[in-house]
Amino acid sequence: MAASQTINRQWLLKTRPSGMVSQDNFEYAECAIPEPDLQSGQVLLQNLYLSFDPAMRGWMDDEPSYLPPVQIGEVMRASSVAKVIRSDNRSWPEGSLVQGMFGWQDYAVAGPNDLVPPTAVAEGIPPTTVLSVFGGSSLTAYFGMMDVGRPQPGETVLVSGAAGAVGSVVVQLAKLKGCRVIAIAGTDEKCQWLKDECGADEAINYKTRNIHQCLSELCPSGVDIFFDNVGGETLEQAIEHMADFGRIVLCGQISEYNAEQPQPGPANLKYLITRRIKMQGFIMLDYLDRVEEAAGKLGEWVMSGKIKYREDIQEGFDQIPATLERLFQGENKGKQLLAL
Ligand SMILES: NC(=O)c1ccc[n+]([C@@H]2O[C@H](COP(=O)([O-])OP(=O)(O)OC[C@H]3O[C@@H](n4cnc5c(N)ncnc54)[C@H](OP(=O)(O)O)[C@@H]3O)[C@@H](O)[C@H]2O)c1
Repeated sequence: MAASQTINRQWLLKTRPSGMVSQDNFEYAECAIPEPDLQSGQVLLQNLYLSFDPAMRGWMDDEPSYLPPVQIGEVMRASSVAKVIRSDNRSWPEGSLVQGMFGWQDYAVAGPNDLVPPTAVAEGIPPTTVLSVFGGSSLTAYFGMMDVGRPQPGETVLVSGAAGAVGSVVVQLAKLKGCRVIAIAGTDEKCQWLKDECGADEAINYKTRNIHQCLSELCPSGVDIFFDNVGGETLEQAIEHMADFGRIVLCGQISEYNAEQPQPGPANLKYLITRRIKMQGFIMLDYLDRVEEAAGKLGEWVMSGKIKYREDIQEGFDQIPATLERLFQGENKGKQLLAL
């Protein structure tokens, strides 16, 4: 099978952002389509769909983390689904689809010795769902909620960033576990979707309503589990309303990813002591040996309609940097993807 173009378009990291990420941090480039070393098991891939994840902002900083920073001049790292164009590797035959971190480019070479080797996409699965409801966001929701949050029937669960890829699955997992769920999101439309489709009992638009006041009214007995995707003021306000022996699941802090200076922590951590609250961070990658378990359960719930999801699919290679900005402006409705 031949590549359909002769040029490989790429978006490279040009500068590290100071504050809000912008399109100016990236530089467009073209190069020849790379040649795989077929003898060592490498394959040539053509990207079909790119995934956009808040963590990408962190990869742009020159700071050690669970993955190395993207270097200046390198292709921007991103998860994607791609089609195998050239292969001698039986695990990834020509024409099959694979998932991996193939970056902001049309074509990539990948192989078994990569930091994150490609994984085959099962036949019959819509390719976008591999990045959305069957992707890392849902696994994050599953392990964060089930392992760290440990919901019990009848408990009150509060979820921030609730309309997003991770948050919307967390809301539905908590409902499946018999909890009362209060969701926080940034538009009325997202709040309505959370109630109508995801089964949230209450939804708070944090841009038009006061979280503290709402929680006083909605949770007089306190919050048992707070699943936090946002950090900052939202975390501080939630701590105020935690019940005795509550659990706070620190999943993400998107409100702070673009801050120019380190942000002050919550001023009310004393409640963790007096109310015996447990607060724990986690990284989904630590659970890779249990992906089969989570994927099996999530698959069952999605197929039976118990877990709903939505995908926000932008289009066009030129729109790639702007699509990353959508996450930090709250423009994405569901999992942010881009079709190439
Ligand atoms: N620990 C892990 O292993 C792991 C893995 C994956 C993701 N995460 C974290 O999970 C969180 C959600 O990720 P996702 O992929 O599901 O993204 P997402 O929620 O689909 O998209 C980001 C959403 O965050 C909200 N947001 C943006 N800026 C905000 C701000 N300043 N204050 C409050 N809300 C803001 C926006 O929604 P609104 O309209 O509601 O503002 C936006 O739509 C992120 O913090 C991410 O880093 C953690």
